[in-house]
Amino acid sequence: MPTSRVASPRRFLVCEPEHFEVRYAINPWMRAEVPVDTARAARQWSTLIETYRAHGHAVESVPPVPGLPDMVFAANCAVVMRGRVFGSLFHAPERRPESTAYETWFKAAGFDVYRPESVCEGEGDLVPAGRFLLAGTGFRTARAAHHEAQEFFGVPTIGLQLVDPHFYHLDTALFALDEENVAYYPDAFSPGCREVLARLFPDAVLATREDAMAFGLNSVSDGRHVFIAPQATGLIDQLTDRGYVPVPVDLSEFHKAGGGIKCCTQEIRS
Ligand code: ARG
Repeated sequence: MPTSRVASPRRFLVCEPEHFEVRYAINPWMRAEVPVDTARAARQWSTLIETYRAHGHAVESVPPVPGLPDMVFAANCAVVMRGRVFGSLFHAPERRPESTAYETWFKAAGFDVYRPESVCEGEGDLVPAGRFLLAGTGFRTARAAHHEAQEFFGVPTIGLQLVDPHFYHLDTALFALDEENVAYYPDAFSPGCREVLARLFPDAVLATREDAMAFGLNSVSDGRHVFIAPQATGLIDQLTDRGYVPVPVDLSEFHKAGGGIKCCTQEIRS
């Protein structure tokens, strides 16, 4: 039954796609023979930033570093809750230098940064959802990092096993709609973890494979507006039925690298 959903203003951290391209392949979406249209990517990214601002959200930017083509995917650099920054340690050697570049920004902005000892790809795999921190593993972030994050934040951390390489990060298969609810694609998770999610979120929005493959779950919600891939048409209808307001933003050039809206957006939670 549709209720009146309330938006809350967010603080986002992003990185301009000045050096964005597909230069190596570390997930099934990345294929060097499919070139990125860099001018189109730049326009799509700018539209996302303008759309956030038009909806009242603050957006800050980390300077892009030459030679780091995936640095545009700001979500992977950290998880921030109550002003505490849990940094990153990338699985792929190609991405490792990104952690330091983001750490420099956080320190200059007045934050201390905790450096995880185990592989951890920020909000790519650690998704704050109400009372819980949902934590993906299977392709990137190590289980040991879930324990580190739980110790650091003191928030109950729920480990979730990802099983499909197309959904190699938790944020490609699940996003938080608000403090109470999430949307996800069940088949991206192991059978036991599907049960865990059903228990924690009995009212969740369940996406089809088609909508998940369209990066529909790589979305950002402010509690009312859901910034979402326009290709995820079924999910857009489901969200509308639940009283959310989908705001379609096309990041199709970034899909070629395995990323979408959420991947390009780090949330700084105070
Ligand atoms: N090419 C990047 C990688 O494979 C994409 C990262 C997408 N980010 C995300 N939060 N899912 O690491």
